[in-house]
Amino acid sequence: MTEPVVARPCAADVLTRTRDLLDPALRRAVGTLPHSMRRVAGYHFGWWDARERPVGGAGGGKALRPAFTLLAAEGAGGEATAALPAAVAVELVHNFSLIHDDVMDGDRVRRHRPTAWAVFGRAQAILAGDSLLALAFAVLATGTDGGPDSAADGRTDGVPVLAGHVQSLLDGQSADLDFEERAEVGLEACVRMAEGKTAALFRCACALGALYGGATPDQSVLLKAYGERVGLAFQIVDDLLGIWGDPAVTGKAVHSDLRNRKKSLPVVAALASGTPAGAALAALYRRPVAEPDLARAARLVEEAGGRAWSLARVDGLLTEALESLRAAGLTPEAAAGLEALARLAADRDR
Ligand code: IPE
Ligand code: IPE
Ligand code: MG
Ligand code: MG
Repeated sequence: MTEPVVARPCAADVLTRTRDLLDPALRRAVGTLPHSMRRVAGYHFGWWDARERPVGGAGGGKALRPAFTLLAAEGAGGEATAALPAAVAVELVHNFSLIHDDVMDGDRVRRHRPTAWAVFGRAQAILAGDSLLALAFAVLATGTDGGPDSAADGRTDGVPVLAGHVQSLLDGQSADLDFEERAEVGLEACVRMAEGKTAALFRCACALGALYGGATPDQSVLLKAYGERVGLAFQIVDDLLGIWGDPAVTGKAVHSDLRNRKKSLPVVAALASGTPAGAALAALYRRPVAEPDLARAARLVEEAGGRAWSLARVDGLLTEALESLRAAGLTPEAAAGLEALARLAADRDR
């Protein structure tokens, strides 16, 4: 039997379609928030400026995670619309985590703009992040815009799935912060940290898509494995972009991780390399890295093989993710879309 022929979609087209589905529902949900929270959230999403004047341009982020939810649901034979509240919930959790992450990392630029805390102060940003997290659960449990008068729709089985993955994300973020203070961090501990802070939400996006699309238990297991691999690859690429990315393209400051002495994966791979460059990097990392030493730290990561290790790991993760995807036996169009998204996550410049 020959495989059905499906044109290879480009990831940008896949994301345009899922974003068109997501955006109205996301805006409706954020529209239910009290003005004090909506003001900061809408700024963060790129919908308006600090004085609530609409701004042009795409704004927001790439909206990758909800695309995984919608395509996983379609791939399992369900309707994307049935998974829309889950997709909105996942994007809300992601943005809660970003707003808080920028406070924790002290980063002042994201998505080419000053971060929420840099504009509204840390306390207001923390509250707005909390607000998005609560809204995510309301949207998921009600299947609506999650406004204060909406009622649970009887379909609440996604709630513990989201809650469990949020706990993993928080645990990963906690480890990420702890590791800043620690000289010795093993590569495996570092991988577990990245699995928590980032891969967990990608896994969750796929788990919810599987649930709302009516996937079989086997398909659900394979979609979760796929999401986790893609998510880890995504974080490793994020770590690489944090060292060698172009801020004009990423919209984030370069070298912020090195300045914070983050134990990102390329850094830990370099520190564990047993090379002279790795030892020199460890010496640099012993005290706060001074501004003129940042470029040298980046060079040492490369010389010690941290960049090569990361690229090889991303490659391996992509292969594993695509194996799980193929084994899941999804509908051909959705599978092709998910493959395009996995390739984008592993090879991107923003
Ligand atoms: C950034 O995620 C945070 C990480 C987990 C690395 P994205 O790069 O998906 O952020 P946006 O939503 O597109 O801005
Ligand atoms: C990624 O954090 C994970 C979360 C935000 C939960 P990072 O700190 O690694 O990501 P960026 O580079 O600031 O987006
Ligand atoms: Mg950060
Ligand atoms: Mg962080």
